[in-house]
Amino acid sequence: MGHPATQEAAALLDQAERVVVFTGAGMSAESGVPTFRDALTGLWQRFDAQALATPEAFRADPALVWGWYEWRRHAVQQAQPNAGHRAVAAIEARVPNTVLVTQNVDDLHERAGSANPVHLHGSLFAPRCSACAHPASTPYGEADEPTDGPVPPPRCARCAADIRPGVVWFGEALPTAALEAAVEAASSCDLLVTVGTSGLVYPAAEIPQVAARLGATVIQVNPEETPLDRVATVNLRGPAARVLPALVEAAWGDTDQVPDESPGDA
Ligand code: APR
Repeated sequence: MGHPATQEAAALLDQAERVVVFTGAGMSAESGVPTFRDALTGLWQRFDAQALATPEAFRADPALVWGWYEWRRHAVQQAQPNAGHRAVAAIEARVPNTVLVTQNVDDLHERAGSANPVHLHGSLFAPRCSACAHPASTPYGEADEPTDGPVPPPRCARCAADIRPGVVWFGEALPTAALEAAVEAASSCDLLVTVGTSGLVYPAAEIPQVAARLGATVIQVNPEETPLDRVATVNLRGPAARVLPALVEAAWGDTDQVPDESPGDA
């Protein structure tokens, strides 16, 4: 038998018919992808992540910001999904109405088997033109070299303006379709599992609040207290890569078996 809170959360998960899993940077922390509140390392340690992730920073120094995103993209390509990402895919396989909403710009959910995450804050792998929004081609491959320092951004094939990362910066609007999909899912779910998010960055932080307000049960997975503690029925204090597999195991048994049981699982 696991911890009582895990058992309580597992019973809620087992009963749920429409689940939203809502993830933040803590989800990928154990894959070695730093959260936004971690200090930067190496050549980037004298910079502040929150100051680099702005339209103003890109306008002032496109090569600095593009280089930082290229460095992050490369770090993500070196990283592997963790057991928490795989547990989320197992929930999706087990509860067909699950919608995964992530604030993360990495692709670790997809690589763990999640089919169609809603990326509220865009993606490291979808650069576009900073002027005309034309999608840039992405020659990202295995032989891609790591970058360390400023890198001038490529130019748009259509209008020759700088290409920018396809992420949402502080002060920018979220992609409309993603936000609508997330709000719709949060409004109609009966259970929302929030994982590894500080719950401080709006409007994304509204998503669990919307679900709770409309009567859904909220389970939170986070080693620390957050403002979402108040809306959570169960707070599972621990790292995602340990807590989520334990939750899935307590709900349905061995997580490795779960995806195989779902119809249409590739
Ligand atoms: N497992 C689960 N949670 C963890 C883990 C872990 N192993 N390690 C850290 N956390 C938690 C922290 O306690 C914190 O609450 O993850 C959270 C990370 O918080 P943030 O760095 O603020 O990340 P997030 O909530 O995703 O930020 C939202 O803000 O920086 C912007 O656009 C960026 O998408 C990001 C958004």
